[in-house]
Parts: sequence; structure tokens; C-alpha cells
Amino acid sequence: MVSETQNRILVVEDEGDMRNGLQRMLSRKGYSVDTAEGGLAAVEKMRQSPFQVVIADLKMPDMSGIEVLQTAKDINRSVTVIIITGYATVASAVESMRLGAFDYITKPFKPDDITLAVERALKKERAPLQEKTRQAPLTEVTSQASDEGAGATWIPKQVKERRILLEHCDRTTARTAEERVVTPENIAHFKEMYPGQKIHLWQWLGFGASNADIATYMKRGGYKALEKALAWKPEAVIAEMKESGLIGRGGAGFPTGLKWEAAFNEPETEKYFVCNAEEGEPGAFKDKMLLDHNPHKVIEGMIIGAYAVGASEGYLYIKDKYGDTADLAEKAIGAAQARGLLGNSILGSAFSFRLRVMRVPSTYVCGEETALCRSIEGKRAVPKPKPPFPTACGLFEKPTVINNVETLANVPHIISNGAKWFRGIGADGSFGTKLFSITGNVKDSGVFEVELGKYTLADLVYGLAKGIENDLELKAILPSGPSTCFISGDNLDVVMDYKSLNKAGTSLGTGAIIVLDETVSIPELVKHFFEFYRNQSCGDCVPCRVGTRRIHEILKWMTEPMTHAEFRDLHRLGGFARVSCIENLKRFATAMKAAAKCGLGQAAPEPLLSSIRTFRDEYDALIEQRKEEYERFVGQSSALSNQGTVSGPVRSIIQRIDL
Ligand SMILES: Cc1cc2nc3c(=O)[nH]c(=O)nc-3n(C[C@H](O)[C@H](O)[C@H](O)COP(=O)(O)O)c2cc1C
Ligand code: SF4
Repeated sequence: MVSETQNRILVVEDEGDMRNGLQRMLSRKGYSVDTAEGGLAAVEKMRQSPFQVVIADLKMPDMSGIEVLQTAKDINRSVTVIIITGYATVASAVESMRLGAFDYITKPFKPDDITLAVERALKKERAPLQEKTRQAPLTEVTSQASDEGAGATWIPKQVKERRILLEHCDRTTARTAEERVVTPENIAHFKEMYPGQKIHLWQWLGFGASNADIATYMKRGGYKALEKALAWKPEAVIAEMKESGLIGRGGAGFPTGLKWEAAFNEPETEKYFVCNAEEGEPGAFKDKMLLDHNPHKVIEGMIIGAYAVGASEGYLYIKDKYGDTADLAEKAIGAAQARGLLGNSILGSAFSFRLRVMRVPSTYVCGEETALCRSIEGKRAVPKPKPPFPTACGLFEKPTVINNVETLANVPHIISNGAKWFRGIGADGSFGTKLFSITGNVKDSGVFEVELGKYTLADLVYGLAKGIENDLELKAILPSGPSTCFISGDNLDVVMDYKSLNKAGTSLGTGAIIVLDETVSIPELVKHFFEFYRNQSCGDCVPCRVGTRRIHEILKWMTEPMTHAEFRDLHRLGGFARVSCIENLKRFATAMKAAAKCGLGQAAPEPLLSSIRTFRDEYDALIEQRKEEYERFVGQSSALSNQGTVSGPVRSIIQRIDL
């Protein structure tokens, strides 16, 4: 334990959740922590009493981190200032540190780095890279940083790549996510991908028939699990969930029991429980199917979860495009309330839980849990850095559990039948069943419920979905929409469970399988994915905002016919040889993957990078085609270069400045 009087820390941060999260984290370590919402408030506090360490955000509305630093040093020469920087500002932070502007830099979502920086600062140790940082050029600092690994001085390995994007940053104002309602139909290619959505195997999660009506659901044993759970202590419910090994079905693959335990352990009395039914991933529709056919199972799972973690309010977060499903859910909530299963003193117990449906515009990024919380609060749906995770600081900055629809539908079964029973289904650490929505060029698309670890991808595509349409050859499969790596047609023996898919270099995600036949052009499809991502990016961080735009532009250039004016521009800029499309695609994608703030930007490059590895010949062929067209254009316009469009000296300048 650290002495309170000696180690006073001031956290200066305008974002409330970040500020409170840092305060909580450092207080738990035994430090005496005070906070200030902005630079001016910080200066006032520093003047009132000295601090040993000041942790400041590099960018605040009223003052920059550098100004806070200077004032802190003016007031107390021995103070150590740690600057927290997001990705967008990391290069300037490194530059400032080189100039000796402040003592440490660290990134916001690395609590270990922040704690280490504080510990070193209090011991007056110099950060290992500090001296080198001040002298070496930026690229050298970057490579030294990667050799030294994580430390109190955090300098990202990919500063170099990030700078590529920073250099290309052409817009600073983010657009609001709510302004744009982008649906899978915006992607031309997906128009044919949504045929009749049928349900094939509803052995378990669906009971084989519709349970939308509460009387039917209860006749079949519905809400018995809730009754059972309410007779247990919340800790026992959580222990059962942990023991079951249920992994969240929303894509991130986090164990549900651990998530509930984290929220339960928070001392706060006001907590929330949210069901994530945004389902914005192109190709996904299993959550809608589940809610349409079995809304009470999801609601029962939510009530049990809320009881376990101590939440008294909840939201079923659903996109407005699923209007009928939302109506049905509202009706189901009303019916549950009428029977004393929701509201005050549920089933005569001391537990109360109010649940409402929240309808939101269909926007992919709103499915990201922190953006989801913000949108419920009525704010712009922009993801926040993690930690703090929502279980500590979620909706209205209170502990919040966010679970996927399918995850919650598993809960009543686990409570009714026990964790041991659940672990008996599935294989190799992936327990239970999984809903897969299969679309694309298959004969029989729909939602299938299968036991994890027992089926190969071939079983699903050729068995359940009855093979490829029009008996064409299979070219590739995306195991979970456009945020996963392509699996080529000769890798179909991969078993459908978490471990096997990770081993195969991809992931199970939400289980939105997209099947592509031999006629599909992979670069063209990836172009549509990036059109989607470009429109869906909330625009808050540079790598994703600029990266999605640039990648889409390059892919558009490669896959769409060029106009006469575009050929003339290309010619003016020095001709075809100067364009290195694939290298640029890889550079942007790698930087996005490493530096984007949330899962949207981090996962978007997966299909692009994996297709460049597996289907490189298709990209090369397109470039060859453009090259031939360009040469034909130059041949036909031989007078072009002599017409004085660009004079020799100007050509030399524009080439030198890379215009
Ligand atoms: C861009 C983006 C979109 C997401 N969309 C969804 C979604 O529609 N539904 C969902 O359950 N999880 C979605 N997630 C994952 C959530 O952030 C979160 O991990 C999940 O809801 C947790 O539920 P689980 O633990 O039950 O899997 C998305 C994540 C990202 C990065
Ligand atoms: S990665 Fe994209 S969606 Fe996520 S915060 Fe950055 S800009 Fe927004």
C-alpha cells in the first residue's frame, strides 16, 4: 500500500468516464487521486495544493496537455507529468516528448502502462526510452520502442504506419453516425444475398416452434429457470454461468460468467443490463430470427442476468429496421409484466427490474458496446477507448452488462439444466450450440442451429445449405461477414468452433457465413465492403476514417472503368508506373488494423488482407487490365504529351512533391 499523503495524483481529463475510470483504477492501487474536468480546473487545484504526478489528456477543450504541463512545472518543479494520448495524436505526442516537453506518454486503454508510468514517476525513475526519445529521429524511436516492449513510456510500434495515415488526413470533422442509416441493402452485391430466411434446426434454442406467445412459452416450461434463479443467491447464478463456459455470441467471444462477475463486483448500486440486438453485420440475421420466434427466452435470460449482477433497469437495443421484431418484443415485455415477471418485486421476491425496448437507426457501429451506450444516452454513437469496460463504467457511467441476443437465449437452459449438462454439448472448449446464418451462393440459405465443434464448414455449406447454387464451384467463404478473413474453397474441413477457426487464421464471430461461388470477383466484393465501412465509420479516429476512404478509392479505381478524364489525370501525374495499388492497400489496411480505436476499424481490413494473400492473381489481373487500357489510351492520344497539358518544369515539380 502506498502512502496517501506523499503520492497525490491529479487526473486531468474532460471525458467523464475516462476520468472516473482512471481515478477508480489508481485509487484501488492505494494512491490518493483527485480529478479535474479540464485544464483550467486542474490549474486551480494545482495552485491550492501540490501534486506529485499529473496525468493529463493531450487534447482538452479549454487547454492543451502541454499547457497543463507547463503550468504544473511552474507551480511545482518536481512534478512528473504523464500525458495520455489517443492514436490520432500519438505522433505529435512523440514529437513533443523528443523536445523534452513532458515526462511520459502512455495510451488511454492500457491501464498497466499507466500504472507503471505512475510507479516509475513516483520513484523518480527515468523512462527507459526517455533519453533516446529526445535525441533520435522518430522512426528510430519507433523501432527501439518495439524492441523494448511495453513499458512506462509507451510508444507504439506502428507510429510509422500511423503517420502514413496522419499524412493523408484530409478531414477533421467527424460525421455523426445517426445521420446515416446504412443498411446491408446499400451494398449492391448484398441485394441478392437476402433470399427467404428459413429456420432449419430449432431443436433447442427454438423448441421447434414459435413461442412468441407467453402462454405457449410458459406451457413449455418457460420462466421456470427464472423462478429457480431467484431462489439462489446472485453469486450462485454467476458461479453456474462461469462453470458452464458459455462464450458470448456477439462476436467478441468473451465468457459470459466472467462478464457478469465483473459487473457484480462493482460496488455501485445503480447498474444496467442491455441486450444487444443491433445485428448490423452484413449477412447476419440470426438474432432477428431468435427474437421473432422466441422473445421470452431472451427476456428470461435478461431478467436472470439482471438479478445476478444487481441491475434494476434494462434495455433491449434493437434497430428500427427490425420494426416488427421490436413490436413483438414490446408485446412480450408487456405480457411478462402483466404476469409479475418484470417490474417491481418479481415473482414476489425483493428483486425489481424494469425493461424497455430501445429502437435505434440501423448503424453498424451502434452495435459496438460503448457506442451503443452512448446512443442510449442520446449522444453521438462514437466508441470509447477500453478500459474502462462497460461492466465498470457503461451506460450513464454506471456498471453495465451488454450481452448478445443469442447469448441470453442460452441462459435459461443453463440455469434449468445445470452447467454440467451444458458442457456436455459441443466439444473442445466450445460448449453449447451456435446459430449460423448462411447466405450467398448456396441452394438453401437460412439460420441453422448446430452443436459447436461437431460440424465442419463443408457439413454446413454442402449438408445444411445443400451446396452451391447452379452447381457452380465454390470459390471462398467468409465465416462471419466482412469482418473476418476469407477461407478458400479447399479449406472446408475446418471444424466450426472457436479454437479451430482461430487456428485457421479467422474467427467464428457472430456466425454470419457468406458463401461465394466461382463467378464472384473478390476485389469487387471487397470494394463494396469498404464502401460499407467508409459509410459506417463514425469518423472519430483517423486510421479508420481515412483508411476506409482511401482503400475504397483504390479498389474503385481498380475495379471500375476509368473515364477519359481519369486517364488524362493519370497521364498528367506521370503514368501508370507510379501507381502501386496493392502496396498502398496493404499499407493502409495494416495501419488500420493496428491503430483503429474500435473493432470496426480493426477488423475491416481482414477480408482485404486475406484476399490479397489468397486471391492475389485477381488483383494483379485487374491492374494488368488497367495498364493495357492506359497504354491504349496513350497510344490513341499520342499528341497529348505534346499538347502542353503539363509543361516539363511543372511536371518535375508535381512529381517531386508527390502531387
Ligand atoms: C462494429 C461493431 C459492431 C458490433 N455489433 C454487434 C451486434 O450487432 N450485436 C452484438 O451482440 N454484438 C455486436 N458487437 C460486439 C459488442 O461490442 C459486444 O461485444 C457484444 O454485444 C457482447 O455480447 P456477448 O458478450 O454476449 O457476445 C459489435 C462490435 C463491433 C466492434
Ligand atoms: S475505428 Fe472507425 S468506427 Fe471505430 S472509433 Fe475509429 S473511426 Fe469510429
